[in-house]
Amino acid sequence: MSVKVGVVGGSGYTGGELLRILAVHPNVEVTYVTSREYAGKPFTAIHPHLRGFYKGLKFSEVSVQLMAEKCDTVFVNTPHGVSSSLTPQLLEIGLKVVDLSADFRLKNHEDYRIWYEAVHPRPDLLEKAVYGLPELYREKIRSATLVACPGCNSTAALLSLIPAFEQKLVDVERIAVDLKVGSSEAGIKPSLGTHHPERANVMRPYEAEGHRHVAEVEQELSKIAGKPVKVALVPHAVGAVRGALASSHVWLQDPNIDETDIWKAYAARYGKEPFVRIVHGTPFRYPDPKYVIGSNFVDVGFAVEKRIGRAVFFAAIDNLMKGAAGQAVQCFNILHGFDERAGLNSPPLRPA
Ligand SMILES: NC(=O)c1ccc[n+]([C@@H]2O[C@H](COP(=O)([O-])OP(=O)(O)OC[C@H]3O[C@@H](n4cnc5c(N)ncnc54)[C@H](OP(=O)(O)O)[C@@H]3O)[C@@H](O)[C@H]2O)c1
Repeated sequence: MSVKVGVVGGSGYTGGELLRILAVHPNVEVTYVTSREYAGKPFTAIHPHLRGFYKGLKFSEVSVQLMAEKCDTVFVNTPHGVSSSLTPQLLEIGLKVVDLSADFRLKNHEDYRIWYEAVHPRPDLLEKAVYGLPELYREKIRSATLVACPGCNSTAALLSLIPAFEQKLVDVERIAVDLKVGSSEAGIKPSLGTHHPERANVMRPYEAEGHRHVAEVEQELSKIAGKPVKVALVPHAVGAVRGALASSHVWLQDPNIDETDIWKAYAARYGKEPFVRIVHGTPFRYPDPKYVIGSNFVDVGFAVEKRIGRAVFFAAIDNLMKGAAGQAVQCFNILHGFDERAGLNSPPLRPA
């Protein structure tokens, strides 16, 4: 069986990554891809790595009518604020939507107003949208019509902490997440802070007083904890092109807990997850985004400092894969009843 797929925002980094994955997906026919800037031009006008694929297809303007004619499911890869008006129209004509933007991630429209400084035009759809983290919501994704994929920083932060929260291993009142992230997170259009001479070789904190992704991290961790949780989250721009690493600092409920018990908790929670790998051993002792680049894997691991009753949980992802397009395809596969690994079943690059 083949699903006819549309991609809105196909000329950006997540759109390009999506097209790279879908080019070899056994159950997908890409029928419609938008870019307002490159409309009428072949995908290679902006994605030279796709040379030889998608012969005959060109970028189109955004047209709901054409999507109704050509697509069953649409991926939306636009900046926040675009999907909230487009997606309701797509749902009304019976299409399924996998949204990579932030527009449907938060359940509370007041949170959206606070963090995104805009009134959400369709608060009724926030409840209907399923948060696209398969490790938490696989069953709900199966029957969803709208999947709201998490941000890349949120994906790394959440996957580092979920077993620790579920097993009540940590003091949920004291969580600090340090994030390092590569430049492709900022999208394809350069700005003063992101173009190469300014961005190369940086180790630069940004939005340290409250990055938007903290809202969805708090939303999901609060659900697990059963009470409101506040998280300190500080991202750092680093010189890499791809990759995100969450180092989540916690204080242990039982400072004498054995490291093996933590390992067992993570192994039990993630053992059957197709894209979660637990890193524990030598010489590559802790997760490093370098060893997941180009793949949908998330490598998780931890370190326990018994002397001060503290631990740090790590999660390493490729921000464009498990942090964006890879995870979106994983959700798409679940939604359509395909093998969850379809199009994604390849190891990371090395060296990368
Ligand atoms: N980069 C990441 O690591 C990452 C990770 C997770 C989630 N995300 C989220 O995914 C979305 C896309 O990110 P990205 O990095 O791919 O951004 P990007 O590289 O800047 O690409 C944005 C795409 O959206 C299109 N677009 C922009 N404004 C539009 C509008 N008003 N109507 C229709 N299309 C519009 C652009 O094409 P035209 O302007 O030519 O139409 C382009 O194809 C964002 O919401 C981002 O927050 C990104």
